[in-house]
Amino acid sequence: MKISIVVLLLAVYSVFGAKKTARILYSGSSLGSYTTCGCPSNPTGGLPRMANFVKEQNQQFGDPLILDAGNFSSKTGRQKAVLTEYFMKGMAILKYDAVLVGGAEIETGLSEIMRFNKESKLPLISSNLVDSKGNRPFSSVIKVKNVVKGLDALIVGLTAPTQFVKTDSVAAYKILDPLETFSKISAAERKKGVAIIVLTDMKESMLEKFLQAQKGADLVIVAADYAYREMPSLVNGAQVVSSFPETRNMGVVSFDVADDSLLSFTGFNEPMASKYEKHKQMDSLFKAYDKALGGVKFKHPRPSDAQKLYAGSEACAECHRDPVAKERNGKHVKAFSILEKTGNSYNPSCLKCHVTGYERENGFWDVETSMDMAGVQCEECHGPQMAHVREERRRAFGSVDFTGMDQSKSSRQNKPYKVGFYKCAHCHTGEFKLIKTPEEAWKEIGHSK
Ligand code: HEC
Ligand code: HEC
Ligand code: HEC
Ligand code: HEC
Repeated sequence: MKISIVVLLLAVYSVFGAKKTARILYSGSSLGSYTTCGCPSNPTGGLPRMANFVKEQNQQFGDPLILDAGNFSSKTGRQKAVLTEYFMKGMAILKYDAVLVGGAEIETGLSEIMRFNKESKLPLISSNLVDSKGNRPFSSVIKVKNVVKGLDALIVGLTAPTQFVKTDSVAAYKILDPLETFSKISAAERKKGVAIIVLTDMKESMLEKFLQAQKGADLVIVAADYAYREMPSLVNGAQVVSSFPETRNMGVVSFDVADDSLLSFTGFNEPMASKYEKHKQMDSLFKAYDKALGGVKFKHPRPSDAQKLYAGSEACAECHRDPVAKERNGKHVKAFSILEKTGNSYNPSCLKCHVTGYERENGFWDVETSMDMAGVQCEECHGPQMAHVREERRRAFGSVDFTGMDQSKSSRQNKPYKVGFYKCAHCHTGEFKLIKTPEEAWKEIGHSK
């Protein structure tokens, strides 16, 4: 089916006018993934890498259309609102032509999204989201003239029907049926020389029903639906593609146009490579984001029922005098005070490398509840050792347990395992990379003999 259509269209093209190629870049379900996963091996994705990729594409192919199929807001973490605000500013740097308002945006709250957009001015679109008076709070459609000479694009945004979780939006907005909305637009706007492009965050059965029933779409871009991720699929006359989630890949679609008709499609998902080329605007935006986070007092108390897994450095001093003395004079214990000095003691994006056991049981949670676990202490590297401390204390006192066995003679249950030097790279990466090898740096500190 697919093959025969391509062959037919190619035949048309060979008879009529000159071939031109249009290019569309797309993302979707980015979920506020501003930077990479931060994984020590093969970190990919993030807005700075996307910006570099877009720049490269601009240079090679002129000005491609850049579209987002929704769900760009962060849904997790205390900093999600600040992150979403800065993610939108970052998307503005990429110069998107249309950005769908999807379920993640509804979860964030539409009034928040509108407030953030006062500054970022993204071309937000939803054709089926209406307020209580039936008006569209975002663009209903976006028209782009001459995507290539002689071909215009009409972009339609279809938000997946979902519940409004925010109370301020429950009465204020509703989502109209995507198929009905699309049918009206398609009937009115479909004409020669116009390509209809649909952005949607619908998934699975809802998406399938739409695809089977719709008439007139040329290209449907879906936010992270596994089924359409690999290459364009022709469904009921429309090419369907999907983004990868969390900015790890960016989608690319090329199609040839001749005599005002769309011809053969090719498409692929380009991984946002692990090698990172700096991007001036994005890098400084990220600094501004960190600064903005520093200004917010994120309170996140240690749960009162947290298990006592960590003993704290002072508990180790009884038996390991040497390393404790060395660490006391070292930089790791001061890692938290340096955050306080720079006004970042609540900043979730700094804490994970400057404290011990971040958000784990009785590790560090926030300044109010967990200063005993501030700084990089013994157990950040050696793992939680309360069980080891208890056991060694029992052994030291030579206590006899209920079986009548002398504990000090039985074999150890909780001996700490040896730390590998790979551990250092969890924190000493990127701009914090050690100049010396971890082994050399550690030897110099004289932590162990
Ligand atoms: C009551 C004494 C005692 C306390 C308290 C104690 N340890 Fe130990 N630790 C020992 C003994 C004894 C050994 C050696 C066990 C062996 O030889 O098998 C040991 C072994 C270790 C080792 C393994 C060393 C190696 O040779 O592989 C590490 C790491 C360690 N402890 C870390 C800690 C940390 C971190 C703390 C504090 C949270 C701590 N210990 C608290 C007595 C103690
Ligand atoms: C990936 C882990 C990681 C994160 C995230 C991180 N740091 Fe650090 N930071 C380190 C390491 C490792 C060092 C020590 C290495 C060095 O001095 O370069 C360090 C050193 C520092 C220093 C002292 C070194 C200097 O340049 O004077 C400051 C200040 C600092 N960090 C602040 C921050 C702030 C503020 C944030 C959050 C915006 C942050 N760090 C986030 C790992 C991290
Ligand atoms: C930044 C990570 C880190 C911190 C913090 C740290 N250690 Fe270690 N520790 C290591 C590494 C890595 C080794 C293994 C070194 C080696 O193989 O030579 C080690 C070795 C040890 C050993 C084995 C002793 C030896 O001679 O080999 C003990 C005991 C120990 N640490 C206890 C502690 C105590 C107690 C603290 C807190 C005061 C602490 N460590 C803090 C990374 C750390
Ligand atoms: C949990 C995060 C974390 C881990 C794991 C970690 N470090 Fe650090 N390290 C830091 C931070 C944060 C600082 C900066 C503290 C400061 O400047 O007050 C630092 C500072 C240092 C410094 C001093 C840097 C300087 O420029 O003087 C050395 C050396 C160092 N670390 C070595 C190591 C080695 C070796 C390992 C692995 C055995 C290791 N670190 C593991 C977070 C970490």
